[in-house]
Amino acid sequence: MANSPSGDSLTERIVRILETFSAERTVQTAAEIGRRAALPSSTAHRQVDALVDAGLLERDDDSRVRLGMRLWELALRGSDALRLRQAAMPFMERVQAAIREHTQLAVLEQDEALFLERLSSPDSGANITRIAGRLPLHASSSGLVLLAFGSRDLEERVLAGTLTRRAPETITDAAALRRTLADVRRQGYVIAPGSIEAVSTGVAVPVRDASGAVVAALSVVLPRGTPTAAALEELRAAAAGIRRALAADRR
Ligand code: PHB
Repeated sequence: MANSPSGDSLTERIVRILETFSAERTVQTAAEIGRRAALPSSTAHRQVDALVDAGLLERDDDSRVRLGMRLWELALRGSDALRLRQAAMPFMERVQAAIREHTQLAVLEQDEALFLERLSSPDSGANITRIAGRLPLHASSSGLVLLAFGSRDLEERVLAGTLTRRAPETITDAAALRRTLADVRRQGYVIAPGSIEAVSTGVAVPVRDASGAVVAALSVVLPRGTPTAAALEELRAAAAGIRRALAADRR
């Protein structure tokens, strides 16, 4: 791999460029990308041009740059995430039709909950989740499920880190979080009022694959104070359906 005078490889430079994009920062100029990726201006412009030519970045009429559809296409092709989303969709639609509030599917990705899908009605309540967006594990219902059924290492890493308060009822105390995770494992679900925003209650269950391994969390976001029993029942039925669909897909 061709190395630059500073010693970083071409791959490292490309990754640094792609990582300057975030959920909040979706459009940038080549100069901004260069600054944020700590690349010399000429290198940044050359590299951005090459990535635009390859379709991994796209340039608009104002010469501003965003991530390209080709990147999305390649990333999804044959991915476990797409397979999971496809298996889950019919069951998510059923939950959404019954409960008429946001229904979402999240996987564990680099110590955060990454949302693969979200279904909403025009009259659904507040929701800060975005598809391809992330929420903290300790501060969302999906995150708590993924954390509870994740590895011991993951739990220790999260408990040893800073449990940032995102809403009045975010669990910020390590001992309290440990107790909650044990409860989630025992009950097989979590009801998390005011975990990431005060006005909502997240209800989440684990989604298992054919082998029984937890591969995702399925959740609904209810307006605070809404009874949770119906949502929980729908979520459990949906998770069982997704498991069967994943098993059938494997055959
Ligand atoms: C949750 O999963 O707890 C959650 C997610 C998004 C919201 C509110 C709650 O907007």
